[in-house]
Amino acid sequence: MDKYIIKGGNQLFGEVEISGAKNAAVAIIPAAMMVDGVVRLENLPQISDTDKLLQILELMGAQVRMVNPSTVDIDCSHVSLSNKIFSLTRSIRASYYLIGAMLGRFGKAKTTMPGGCNFGVRPIDQHVKGMKALGASISIGRGLINAETRDGRLRGARIYLDKVSVGATINIMIAAAMAEGLTVIENVAREPHIVDLANFLNSMGADVRGAGTDVIKIRGVRSLHGGTYALIPDQIEAGTYMTAVAAAGGEVRINNVIPRHLECISAKLREMGVTVEEQGDAVIVRRDGPLERANVKTQPYPGFPTDMQPQITTVLCMAQGTSVVTEGVWDNRYKYVNELRKMGAEITVSGKTAIIEGVNHLVGAPVAACDLRAGAAMVVAGLCAEGTTVVEDVVYIERGYQDIVGKLRALGADIVAVTEPDEPEQERRRENAG
Ligand code: EPU
Repeated sequence: MDKYIIKGGNQLFGEVEISGAKNAAVAIIPAAMMVDGVVRLENLPQISDTDKLLQILELMGAQVRMVNPSTVDIDCSHVSLSNKIFSLTRSIRASYYLIGAMLGRFGKAKTTMPGGCNFGVRPIDQHVKGMKALGASISIGRGLINAETRDGRLRGARIYLDKVSVGATINIMIAAAMAEGLTVIENVAREPHIVDLANFLNSMGADVRGAGTDVIKIRGVRSLHGGTYALIPDQIEAGTYMTAVAAAGGEVRINNVIPRHLECISAKLREMGVTVEEQGDAVIVRRDGPLERANVKTQPYPGFPTDMQPQITTVLCMAQGTSVVTEGVWDNRYKYVNELRKMGAEITVSGKTAIIEGVNHLVGAPVAACDLRAGAAMVVAGLCAEGTTVVEDVVYIERGYQDIVGKLRALGADIVAVTEPDEPEQERRRENAG
């Protein structure tokens, strides 16, 4: 789909099912490459990032079979390195996990620098530092990454991450799962999908302990065996629907969530006058009064997630008074603010801080999805704006949100997806999304 057309003003009512976690899926699919036997993944989100990773495994020789739309069997018995994957690996961020998985599986790796959303410099120095500590030699040039071990197997090591990095933590965990001996990674990220990856690896026979704390210990094993694993629900997809209700008003039961993963978001929404009730594996979100101002600072988990920053900023546009949002993870994650301004938002950005003066309402306008979460924020804005909002470049949104249009329509939103004949520029964007 190319764009969404949203007629704002409808409150949201009903129930929505949250899909499996994108950022868990994009780590676990590459990790499946190291498994001898068939890996069955359940609760897999149907999004373009996971499609691309499955295609990459297929190009490497894996058998990939969809059992149903959210369950896949992956058999990597006959995979090998291949240059055919390069155009896909260039188009998504998570392709960097192939480095750890290939090193674990083959003792060598060959891929490209990753793509992904552009919010400033996205270095991979901590990934490289980790792989080198495990005994790989790495060369990066002309957009290609080549890694090798001397005798085909990584060796456990003690690694201190200079920066709390989700990606580096995951990549090193994957690589170390089959390294010889003990790996200790310190100052690691603690996001729910890191625990999910550890649980996946352990259920295939790995020995990973401490995920969810800031030290992870991995005792390498010789081989991993097949099995079935169900992914956790997506924290950010759930959070996005929570902000959609906060912005548009109404009452929605959000099913298939782990409420503990949402605590930082629930607490902030409550502070803003939104009701959030936990009920088993659901949260019920209700907003029937005015929104209060709040300050938000994004931080690694369990802090407020950076991947919810554009959506919460959008809701704060409708709050009474002045709110301050501070981005604590990325250097440049406010590009979407220009789009919100087109809708009447009053936001001033200075470095990593955005100051938001609440306005009574936003007004529909043509806007673009600058990246995945920025795109989600445009949808949230469109739902509560007066008049019609056209969100362009939704290919970014479809990287990470399964059927966002269908799910919102079921809640009463007036949103439609429109496809236009491909033009060269759209084709280029489609290639580079991820
Ligand atoms: N960093 C380094 N060196 C590294 C790696 C990271 O300096 O080697 C810095 C980054 O520049 C950033 C900070 O460390 O300032 C955190 O980056 P992190 O490595 O945690 O981010 P990532 O692994 O590249 C993942 C998610 C992002 C999410 C961040 C933070 C995936 C595929 N991506 O990125 O998700 O924003 O963690 O939680 O898992 C999204 O889903 O929209 C998205 C962008």
